[in-house]
Amino acid sequence: MTENQLLKTAQEFGSPIYVYDAEKIESQYKRLTNAFKSVKKLKINYAVKALSNISVLKLFNSLGSGIDTVSIQEVQLGLAAGFKPNQIIFTPNGVSLSEIEEAANLGVEINIDNLSILEQFGTKHPKVPVCIRINPHVMAGGNANISVGHIDSKFGISIHQIPHILRIVENTKMTINGIHMHTGSDILDIEVFLYASEILFDTAKQFKNLEFIDFGSGFKVPYKLGDIETNIEELGKKLSSRFNEFCKEYGKDLTLAFEPGKFLVSESGYFLTKVNAVKQTTSTVFAQVDSGFNHLIRPMFYGSHHDIINISNPKGRERFYTVVGYICETDTFGNNRRINEINEGDVLCFKNAGAYCFSMASNYNSRFRPAEVLWYKGEAHLIRKRETFDDILNNQIEVDFSTKKEAALAK
Ligand SMILES: Cc1ncc(COP(=O)(O)O)c(C=O)c1O
Repeated sequence: MTENQLLKTAQEFGSPIYVYDAEKIESQYKRLTNAFKSVKKLKINYAVKALSNISVLKLFNSLGSGIDTVSIQEVQLGLAAGFKPNQIIFTPNGVSLSEIEEAANLGVEINIDNLSILEQFGTKHPKVPVCIRINPHVMAGGNANISVGHIDSKFGISIHQIPHILRIVENTKMTINGIHMHTGSDILDIEVFLYASEILFDTAKQFKNLEFIDFGSGFKVPYKLGDIETNIEELGKKLSSRFNEFCKEYGKDLTLAFEPGKFLVSESGYFLTKVNAVKQTTSTVFAQVDSGFNHLIRPMFYGSHHDIINISNPKGRERFYTVVGYICETDTFGNNRRINEINEGDVLCFKNAGAYCFSMASNYNSRFRPAEVLWYKGEAHLIRKRETFDDILNNQIEVDFSTKKEAALAK
């Protein structure tokens, strides 16, 4: 996408606004499928949580992707976007048995990561095949919040509990049709994937009715110029060859599955904000934008980096700014950044705003959540309207205190 197209989008649809480039989503999807082209059966299940707008889901459907979901609402959203139940995998953590049963009734693939739930589900529904999420006890991921496959993590069933899983399977006569792991996000080193994959293969050997092995996700994308990213092509070559070898040992062509979020949508997204004020203090020049962690929480939540550029003044002299929001708590988007000279009213663009950005937005400070636009084949499509004051009041119920007060006084 060009800076001109982005600026035009902000002028036409207002600010703050999320803008996504469909072409980038398509090219990332193709890059991934291409990297694993030597595997006979490959399934990419886009992780809906990263960016869940229904038009984005429809775009993935048109590309032939499936989806990975973590709540019954994401399952329903996927069905509404036109995915068939067998294109949806439900990978929840810490949800009730009844939510899992609701998903199973809708016909989607169930992934269970808890022995107690596995036993209850297998006892009640022995005919529904399920996938098992294991915890390989591997430390991987960009920071503690997104490292989810280590020994202290709440995710997955420990590899040391495989004998217990086998006992449940034997006792309930349920079928395990898939083995899954997801060790974390922003994993730099493909050796970590390959190491964890061996654990998955070892586990898989113990289950005789598998249809697929799901390697989760965690591919790192570049956040700034020269940044390291997961070498998908090399991972594709090495893992495909090992997977094909494993299928021979196993005696069946299994499906190799992945469920990426960030890799598919992070770089497709741009978040555009307008500068409300430039404020010089004794030590800093703050650029204060019409947004905050209510719209983009990743920098404050994970310390994530988003490149910030001034698309209103791309040739202006570079100066140092700290870019902050309008929230009543510290909400620094970028500290001490070199940015082309910023004037009040300029539009700033935050890059890598496709994954875990809008989907984590809230109404904190009673602000509206932003609009979303998808650029597809050279045209801007509004895919979510900006909220209005009605959305803020929606579902709130007012108590009429005046009558209560009168009743109290009358007593
Ligand atoms: C189970 C599971 N699968 C897939 C993903 C997507 O990970 P990423 O966005 O790093 O590709 C996540 C992210 O939290 C996850 O928890």
